[in-house]
Amino acid sequence: MTSRIVVITGALGGIGLASIEVFTKNHDIVIGIDIKAQDDSLVMETKQKYDSFHYYQTDCTLEEQVKVTIEKIVSDFGKIDVLFNIIGGSGRRFGDGPIHTVSLEAYQKTIELNLTSQFLVSKYAVIQMLKQNSGNIINTGSVLGMVGGNEMFSTVTYAASKAAIIGLSRSMAMAYAKNNIRVNVISPGLIETNMTQRAQSNEDIFAYIDEKQPIYHGRHKLGNPMSIALAARFLADSDADFVTGINLPVDGGWTAQ
Ligand SMILES: NC(=O)c1ccc[n+]([C@@H]2O[C@H](COP(=O)([O-])OP(=O)(O)OC[C@H]3O[C@@H](n4cnc5c(N)ncnc54)[C@H](O)[C@@H]3O)[C@@H](O)[C@H]2O)c1
Repeated sequence: MTSRIVVITGALGGIGLASIEVFTKNHDIVIGIDIKAQDDSLVMETKQKYDSFHYYQTDCTLEEQVKVTIEKIVSDFGKIDVLFNIIGGSGRRFGDGPIHTVSLEAYQKTIELNLTSQFLVSKYAVIQMLKQNSGNIINTGSVLGMVGGNEMFSTVTYAASKAAIIGLSRSMAMAYAKNNIRVNVISPGLIETNMTQRAQSNEDIFAYIDEKQPIYHGRHKLGNPMSIALAARFLADSDADFVTGINLPVDGGWTAQ
């Protein structure tokens, strides 16, 4: 049996690295896409650690770069079986926050990082998947695209981008079901990665999370990136071939309340 080609964006982040581990263990060929340079120490370390890992530096917010990278992957590997589109992040550094404080520029940059990026990679992956008449896309939302948070989690543009990803993915799921392309979303709760460093050093956030993610009640613990990677492995598997158009929260109970 030939190995699946699994493309992961935002591959060098916390959820990405856990996913590289899970999919390489699953005997897939894993293609990582991230903005980090080819000679970045994390890129070199990850290539060394996993024989079946390949890396393509790309800024996923730029259409031409995404197009060239996807076309290069197809010319190098012949197909794309799975896209796990993780790329995204907090817009706080651009100025995302409660709406009365958000500049148009902060809004646009946050949308680019979270929504435009997943839109562009999905678009070029689908162009290839239509030629194959098969494919599997998992986009990444967030609990904050489903429910509002308190003032510590009030970033309106991020919330809007993540809600949009759910809509984008459902629409894609319906458009391409007859082409044998499945599209689903995973919406993580608060997960221990670089993105949540702010939260990891803030006891008020931990107290809030103790209520929001009650499955770890009293354990002073955020979600593990591996939980997200394993959910993606399930959605990417042929065992899930009847699952399309869903938004799967992996959130310790956050959105059940
Ligand atoms: N960590 C959480 O608590 C959490 C919760 C909900 C949703 N999410 C979502 O999960 C995804 C990743 O989260 P993470 O915690 O692994 O983040 P992370 O910050 O650890 O990783 C993000 C990765 O994306 C890369 N990146 C940034 N800009 C890029 C660009 N323009 N093009 C290509 N790559 C770029 C970074 O280099 C980094 O490797 C995001 O979509 C995020 O919104 C995370």
